[in-house]
Amino acid sequence: MRGEVEEEVLEKIRPLPEERERVWEAYLNIRSALENVLRERGVEAEVTLQGSFAKDTWISGERDLDVFVLFPSSWSINELKTRGFALILEAAEKIGEYSVNYAEHPYVVIRAGGVKADVVPAYKLHDPSEVRTAVDRTIFHTNYINNVLKPHQRDEVRLLKKFMKAIGVYGAEVKVRGFSGYLCELLVLTYGGFRGVLEEARNWRPQVIVNTLGLTGRELEERLSILREKYRDSVMIAPDPVDWRRNAAASVSLKSLSTLSLAAQCYLKNPSLSFFFKEHLEASFNELVNAAEGRCMLFIVFNLSKALPSEVLWGEIHRVRDRLCKLAENFEFKVIHSDAWSDEESIAVIGIEAAECDLSKYRFSVGPRYTSIERVENFIRKHLNAASGPWISPNGRLLALSGRRYGSLKDLLESRAGEYIVAPDFKILKPEISEITELEPIYNSVKGFREWLAEFVLRKYAWMTSCIQ
Ligand code: CTP
Ligand code: MG
Repeated sequence: MRGEVEEEVLEKIRPLPEERERVWEAYLNIRSALENVLRERGVEAEVTLQGSFAKDTWISGERDLDVFVLFPSSWSINELKTRGFALILEAAEKIGEYSVNYAEHPYVVIRAGGVKADVVPAYKLHDPSEVRTAVDRTIFHTNYINNVLKPHQRDEVRLLKKFMKAIGVYGAEVKVRGFSGYLCELLVLTYGGFRGVLEEARNWRPQVIVNTLGLTGRELEERLSILREKYRDSVMIAPDPVDWRRNAAASVSLKSLSTLSLAAQCYLKNPSLSFFFKEHLEASFNELVNAAEGRCMLFIVFNLSKALPSEVLWGEIHRVRDRLCKLAENFEFKVIHSDAWSDEESIAVIGIEAAECDLSKYRFSVGPRYTSIERVENFIRKHLNAASGPWISPNGRLLALSGRRYGSLKDLLESRAGEYIVAPDFKILKPEISEITELEPIYNSVKGFREWLAEFVLRKYAWMTSCIQ
């Protein structure tokens, strides 16, 4: 049963016939341009619509089409990536505005007729066992969902996606490390509907197992034990029904899982629109500067030298961020928050907040008890040149007080930049380590940055107030 809030949300996110028609028109134009080029070049290939449009699980206003051009499976992967890609590019030039992107292999992004279409070269296959590239599974996913998802469940998927988007956990991409559209569909299939998924999610504790296969007993256990072994580090396992050895939830991070689980608990207690429509925090630059007053926040600003594919860029940003936090912790700065932002074109910013930016000039070390002679020896050796000590405490431990190498977090980050800027495309860049007050030009001119900065500083989520009412 759907609640009032859900009905109200659906009124807003379920596409109306006019919109469907407009999008369909745009698709037909793209398709016929592609088919013309294929015909002219004498290539046997099929243009197909995949993704949420083909499954009717898309959300009104979000017109991102997934168009797959299926080339003969006799082609080599290299042929697919060069010849297949070139044919798509040739058609794109005739259609309108386009750009080139790549995940595992290249595809073309076309903007025309009010839609954005990813046009992806893939193989025409008959069985999932023939899958050769990461994108080849898509056609089987589309078929599977269209065969088993009941008509009313399409709206349930829309609700779940919209909910996940608003709380920031939708998308399997490296940037988000959350739930893919396909995983949303599998969850709705497994638990019946939006509410069914939330009822489960409220009790999720890693490692979460989602029985997407509809199996029981020994058959299920056998498969799960293989998956548990293969995906030991995943917080969630949802076997892909078209290829059960693959975990469709491999991208889900603990943060995404926890966020969804908490939001589910709160929503079920107190449903509200704030779980579906995210309101950006409104704060002027001065308000943010004031909120940051007396806190230890630093921002590492990188001016990117070239555009990188989104997945590569975010992979590198996360790596640099993780190393940076580890470095700070190693020098006893307590990191309380870190996050990153990028326009994916010219700039990337990593923000870090520590409990304190300036530590005392001396470092106090508590060593072993007098009884562990080996550890005592090591401690004495290590602290031979300490400012004071090693000495013995009233309860029998060795202690020492030494001069601190880095008393200021900013000094540390400046002096040891080479230790955290390890990602290949970041190594060549010279970062600027800034205080919040120095970010005003970016705040004023780069789209999307002010929302991120407000969230970085304030960390307030409207839906969380529903947890206590
Ligand atoms: N896909 C891909 N390469 C792309 C775009 C999509 O391989 N450049 C594949 C994905 O792996 C997925 C399918 O196409 O299997 C659809 O991807 P996506 O658009 O992310 O999911 P949807 O189900 O369409 O959901 P949404 O409503 O968010 O678009
Ligand atoms: Mg899509």
